[in-house]
Amino acid sequence: MFIGVVLIILNMMQIGSGRYLEMDNKMKIYYFPDDFAFGVSTAAYQIEGAWNEGGKGESIWDKYLHEHPKYTKDGSNADIATDSYHKYIEDIEMIKKLGVGYYRTSLSWPRILPDGTDNKINKEGVLYYRTLFKELIKANITPVVTLYHWDMPTIFVDLGGWSNPVSLDYFEDYARTSFRLFGDLVKYWLTVNEPHQHCVSSYGGSTIPGLKSPGVALYLCTHNILLAHARVYRIYHQEFRDEQKGKITLPLDCNWSMPKHNGRPEDQEAAERHLEMHVGMFAHPIYSKTGDYPELVRQRIDNASHEEGFPRSRLPYFTDEQIEALKGSSDFFSLNHYTTYLIRAPSIEDEFEIPSYDHDTGVKVEQDLSWSVPGVSWLSVYAPGLRKMIKWITKKYGNEIPIIVTENGVSDRGQIDDYDRVSYFNEYLYELLLAIHEDGSNVKGYFAWSLMDNFEWDDGYSQKFGLYKVDFNDPKRKRTPKLSAKIFHNIVCTRTVDFNFLKPSPEPQLLLE
Ligand SMILES: *[C@@H]1O[C@H](CO)[C@@H](O)[C@H](O)[C@H]1NC(C)=O
Ligand SMILES: *[C@@H]1O[C@H](CO)[C@@H](O)[C@H](O)[C@H]1NC(C)=O
Repeated sequence: MFIGVVLIILNMMQIGSGRYLEMDNKMKIYYFPDDFAFGVSTAAYQIEGAWNEGGKGESIWDKYLHEHPKYTKDGSNADIATDSYHKYIEDIEMIKKLGVGYYRTSLSWPRILPDGTDNKINKEGVLYYRTLFKELIKANITPVVTLYHWDMPTIFVDLGGWSNPVSLDYFEDYARTSFRLFGDLVKYWLTVNEPHQHCVSSYGGSTIPGLKSPGVALYLCTHNILLAHARVYRIYHQEFRDEQKGKITLPLDCNWSMPKHNGRPEDQEAAERHLEMHVGMFAHPIYSKTGDYPELVRQRIDNASHEEGFPRSRLPYFTDEQIEALKGSSDFFSLNHYTTYLIRAPSIEDEFEIPSYDHDTGVKVEQDLSWSVPGVSWLSVYAPGLRKMIKWITKKYGNEIPIIVTENGVSDRGQIDDYDRVSYFNEYLYELLLAIHEDGSNVKGYFAWSLMDNFEWDDGYSQKFGLYKVDFNDPKRKRTPKLSAKIFHNIVCTRTVDFNFLKPSPEPQLLLE
């Protein structure tokens, strides 16, 4: 009763903020279908810690951050991270409290195969993951497992990582070993996390291992990851699926691109080009009827390579067999989405490195300065971008393939009352409801990034994406639920969003239990 009154008063207080009021007036109440899957996501290197315990080998992130201790924004590394190698039981309790049915995490390749190859399987590492998956299942939480979330065994990086086609063979061995070891427990597999982001940053020179080859190695990475995915998909379906009955896909990073000036045809073309060069590049070979790279991508890179005097295209060609192996090599569309960019056609003053992915793409990426940027600078909040991204995918590749949002979230600066994240979840999940109920999109699930604050790559621990706060100064890595954890739990239970939680109330405690 008392709480009801407070809610009404607080509702009235909103009248000042036109934005939410407008939303309330227009808003229809929709519900997530009963079979809609809610989950939370993490990744091995970002949470496990225990970098040299339990027989684990070395990954490139271990090595590079030990050799370059000042590399990350806060000079940190993930030697301990959230210590989930030891605290996984507590993690599972936290997931249970959220009420979600799915937990996405990744295997650490060097924890299972310490020197990268399946000559030597680390029993302790296998036991760790088998226990984790069994405990999850006992708690009615379905594990969703990424094979490769960027922590490559060092030995392969020294050989050029994904730019060297030999990586395909070793990845195949690792994948087959993982299906054999865990396939009785794991029914959802993701092969390589965000290949676009990974190739652009790690092979274009902006992050570890800093292989600076934005026009050549970057595309070898692209090409080899697509081939590795197809190979592993086919292996799963030929050797394991009958018995294990799981699903497997390639998780793609799909930020939305909008023309900066909507009335300018050059900007509209630029936005479409940007989408093709980062989403289409990976989605078209898998989900389109024709297969292969999108025609536009093929021509842009071929033409630029030719003009630059290369004897052949910097983007390798698939054989007919490879095109066929890639086509349809996915059981659902795994979509990671965070933000929307404003894209414009370049002007004469804009310069790009030659050769490079940026020059091949030929667009300028900007942000709308009027959108809120609650945490990390690249992440401005524009919720309709998620619905538009889904529409674009559906229009290009049809509505048959189910879509699961496998990452979506926003960072904060350490507060427990994370109103920006509460708004973010409400707004983005409302757009998903519209996608389902008004567009008829085939969206089947939503996983929040992330269960708890964790090691955010180059940003170290300075960017916090968690539903649970983690105290990284505490040797016990104490976890505390943020306001958003309660609201997310509420959304999962009620199967709908609740904009009553949006307001920056002066007394937020009143809204809690
Ligand atoms: C898009 O999203 C990813 C996360 O998936 C983020 O790391 C990245 O910086 C964003 N921007 C671009 C241009 O990919
Ligand atoms: C590539 O070059 C061909 C031949 O010069 C031209 O017809 C085509 O329009 C170009 N494509 C792109 C996307 O620039």
